[in-house]
Amino acid sequence: MDSIAPDQVYVRRFDAFDRVLHGLLMLSFLGLAATGLPLLFSDEAWARALARVFGGFVVAGWLHRVCATLLIAVFLTHVTRVARRIVAGGESGLLWGPHSMVPQPRDVRELVQHLRWFVGLGARPRFERFTYWEKFDYWAVFWGMAVIGASGLLLWFPELFARILPGWVFNVALLIHGEEALLAVGFIFTMHFFNGHLRPEKFPMDLVIFTGRVTAAELEEERPDEYARIRATGQLERLRVGPPPRWLHRIGRVVGTAAVTIGLILVTLILYAVLT
Ligand code: HEM
Repeated sequence: MDSIAPDQVYVRRFDAFDRVLHGLLMLSFLGLAATGLPLLFSDEAWARALARVFGGFVVAGWLHRVCATLLIAVFLTHVTRVARRIVAGGESGLLWGPHSMVPQPRDVRELVQHLRWFVGLGARPRFERFTYWEKFDYWAVFWGMAVIGASGLLLWFPELFARILPGWVFNVALLIHGEEALLAVGFIFTMHFFNGHLRPEKFPMDLVIFTGRVTAAELEEERPDEYARIRATGQLERLRVGPPPRWLHRIGRVVGTAAVTIGLILVTLILYAVLT
């Protein structure tokens, strides 16, 4: 939702911890893309201009490593928090069930149902806390971290890894790192942005990841099964919050607009480099 509705009932969707972590994830990913792409397309005039903005290719390389350290820290913090919630907090529902991120049979059913709905052959699925495409986005980051993180660390510490790995692995790592970067940038700056902000019902921007709240009406409309569950289990009252403060709303708009703009510019530059 893009505007504050003071007379509406609001429900908490994301806590402050997850919102801050998502903010740091955005920052590190945008930084990695903006400092990595000039290296990948270094023969392009725009790449040299972008590198100059950071103070040259060498500084861009160092900033890339700073952003990579932040991304790894964000990833480890998230995984540790989830593990602690499951093991120490006894939240086994995070592993399976209506509010789990783990793909389940209902996701396959909802995908098929959604495709049918697109062509007018049935009703819209009654989504739960996370839709199948949100789970896909989430696990894409895990896959991406394994591939891009491992290859990136090889490129960062070649002397260390060369003690146990043959030389050709580093060539392959460089290739994989660049290709996976293009895949990640292409996916995040088109599909993820489209799902989050550019769908007709979300346009111009969904601010839930910044404010952490949705209106109860929006929740009921978008995720009827989640709404029904939290109502039936008496959680609706517990999750009830006030409307987002104006300052938070503004921050969300500014940060969200900046991220979408930078992302779309980078995708355009990649397309220009690849197609011309
Ligand atoms: C944990 C994550 C990461 C680590 C440790 C890492 C590390 C590195 C290192 C050490 C280099 C070589 C830099 C140089 O030559 O100065 C590099 C290059 C690069 N990185 Fe990353 N990186 C990570 C994530 C990412 C992400 C998420 C993206 C894209 C969004 C990305 C895009 C690139 C690109 C495009 C290059 C240039 C590859 C080439 O020259 O062919 N990296 N990375």
